[in-house]
Amino acid sequence: MSHLAAKFLIKQVLHKPSSVLGLATGSTPTGTYENVIEDHRKNQTSYEQVQTVNLDEYVGLTPTDPTSYRYFMENNLFQHIDIKAKNTHIPNGKANDLQAECSRYEQLLRELGVDIQLLGIGRNGHIGFNEPGTSFQTKTHVIELAESTRKANARFFDSLEQVPNSAITMGIDSILQSKEIILLASGKNKANAIKQLASEQIDKFFPASALHQHPNVTVIADREALTFCDNTEKLQTV
Ligand code: F6R
Repeated sequence: MSHLAAKFLIKQVLHKPSSVLGLATGSTPTGTYENVIEDHRKNQTSYEQVQTVNLDEYVGLTPTDPTSYRYFMENNLFQHIDIKAKNTHIPNGKANDLQAECSRYEQLLRELGVDIQLLGIGRNGHIGFNEPGTSFQTKTHVIELAESTRKANARFFDSLEQVPNSAITMGIDSILQSKEIILLASGKNKANAIKQLASEQIDKFFPASALHQHPNVTVIADREALTFCDNTEKLQTV
C-alpha cells in the first residue's frame, strides 16, 4: 500500500519537478514517506523545486514540540530528502491571530495550486481534521477536535489531557481544489469508514463522502481496511 502510494507521489514529481504535494500526518502515511525516502536515496528523485502543503496542525504547539505535525514532517520526511525548508508549508498553530493564519494559509493554497493531495481517514470519516458535520464548503479553518479523535491520537502524547482541543485544518472545499487526491486506509479500525465511503452516499456527517464530488480520487487500502467492503469488484487490487 505504501509502495503504491509513494509511486503516485514520485511519478508526479518526475513528471513535474515543481509539483505542489499536499501531505498528511498520522500513522497511515509513514510507510509512504519511507518509500519516498528510499527512492530518493536510490534513484535521486529530486524535491529541490517541490513545494508541500500539509493538511493540518494542532493549535498551541510550537514547531519544535515533538507532538506537533511540523515536527512529525521534519522527522518522517523533510530532513531525509533535498526539499528546501522554505518550500514546506504547514499551518502555524501558535499564530496569535488564528483567523488571520487560516486566511493566509488558504490564500497560499490558492496561489500554489495543489497537484496531488495525500489523505488518511479518521474512524469517524474525517479528512484533514474536518470532523462530522463540517460543511463541504469550508476553507482553511479552526476546528474543535471530536473527543473520539483526541482519544485516537492520544497514543502520540503522554496522556489524553495533553492532546490539544483544536486544530487548524484545510477545509473540505480546500481539499477538493486539489487536482488529484489519494486516500490511504490501513487496518481493521478503518474498515467501517471504508465501507461507508464505498457506499457512495454523500453525507455531511461523513466528511470523506465529499470526495465523491471530486473527479480524480484514488483510494488505496489494505485488506484489513477492506474487510467490510462487499463491492470490492469495483476496486482495483494490486
Ligand atoms: C492527518 C490528518 C488526519 C489523519 C487521520 C488518520 O494530517 O489530517 O485526517 O489522516 O486522523 O490518522 P492515522 O493515519 O493516524 O490513523
